[in-house]
Amino acid sequence: MPEIRLEGVTKRFGEVVAVRDLSLEIRDGEYFTLLGPIGSGKTTTLMLIAGLLEPDEGEIYFDGRPMRGVPPEDRRVGFVFETFALFPHYNVWENVCYGPRVRGEDPEATRKVAEEMLEMVLLEDRPDALPDELSGGMKQRVALARALTSGARILLLDEPLGALDAKIRTALAHDLRRIVKDLGLTAIHVTNSVEEAMTISDRIAVLHRGSVEQVGTPREVYENPRTLFVMDFMGDINLFSGEVTRADGGFTEVTTPEGFTFRSSRRTMPPGSEVHVVVRAEDADILPRTEETVNNLHGIVKEKMFLLGFMEYLIELETKQEFIVEVPLMMSERIWEVGEAVSITFAPEKVYLFEKEESL
Ligand SMILES: Nc1ncnc2c1ncn2[C@@H]1O[C@H](COP(=O)(O)OP(=O)(O)O)[C@@H](O)[C@H]1O
Ligand SMILES: [Mg+2]
Repeated sequence: MPEIRLEGVTKRFGEVVAVRDLSLEIRDGEYFTLLGPIGSGKTTTLMLIAGLLEPDEGEIYFDGRPMRGVPPEDRRVGFVFETFALFPHYNVWENVCYGPRVRGEDPEATRKVAEEMLEMVLLEDRPDALPDELSGGMKQRVALARALTSGARILLLDEPLGALDAKIRTALAHDLRRIVKDLGLTAIHVTNSVEEAMTISDRIAVLHRGSVEQVGTPREVYENPRTLFVMDFMGDINLFSGEVTRADGGFTEVTTPEGFTFRSSRRTMPPGSEVHVVVRAEDADILPRTEETVNNLHGIVKEKMFLLGFMEYLIELETKQEFIVEVPLMMSERIWEVGEAVSITFAPEKVYLFEKEESL
């Protein structure tokens, strides 16, 4: 029932600081996700937790016990990688029993736990299949069963769904979460897919250059991104820069050098502050052209695209800047045509402000 704590963990490879002063607390029984772009230090963090690497600085605790010097085999962690890493000439049963067998564990106990795990991953009727006879999703379920048969209490999953088709990915994501919860494990799941992190996690840590940018539930991170980096990473955004010109009555007004006026109710900042203004593509709406100028930008539809469930519009503003708007198809009263003159609007609670020094 392990709770995992990282305190000021740093790991360098020569000049590269892969993980930088990282502190995290993962609760007992939690499905926790490390989300970040390639090179942000996700895999290194997993390897440190597994004991495959040791920190240069800082300490990792399992249930309050420092792990420095404790070898991987004594940490009770199971690893699942993106590539399935099964023994190709062993069938499902042999793959799943491999760990306990080489450690010389009691065959009867091994058989029982292997049966239980195969049932858990819904492969109890395929013990004789060779890896090549299985789909990608099935192979990954075998890898999971194998990680669990070894008695792991902590499951470390490094992009386990990365090599799978979209549909199987969603199904297996649900299976993973169910299994972790049913067995009372603690899971740390690594991905660079925001969508995957949002659907599978109890909480997410967003990583950037080896550091944690934000930790929270999927909803907290989406609704209150703490930095411009997190906001940008979570989806399509429109970014402007300007100066706070007014702040009263719970509103902060920002004027940009192009002459746009944004009004935000999210955050109060003093006049004179240099800020970034961000509006998400899905938080903006398109109207016929109006004369309004606050939270209202004038432009011409330049492109439109049908995407799954929504329409994406590229609007060219009078300044030639582009503004991206995503409208759910269900909510679209009409489809806007390329060349139409329109207004883009958004509510003050959808206008996010960040201090200028929080650059990408
Ligand atoms: N064994 C290694 N030797 C040298 N540099 C490494 C090694 N492993 C990782 N790095 C570097 O550390 C940084 C973080 O890598 P990694 O943890 O693999 O990121 P992620 O899993 O988020 O893509 C990257 O800049 C990567 O090139
Ligand atoms: Mg990685």
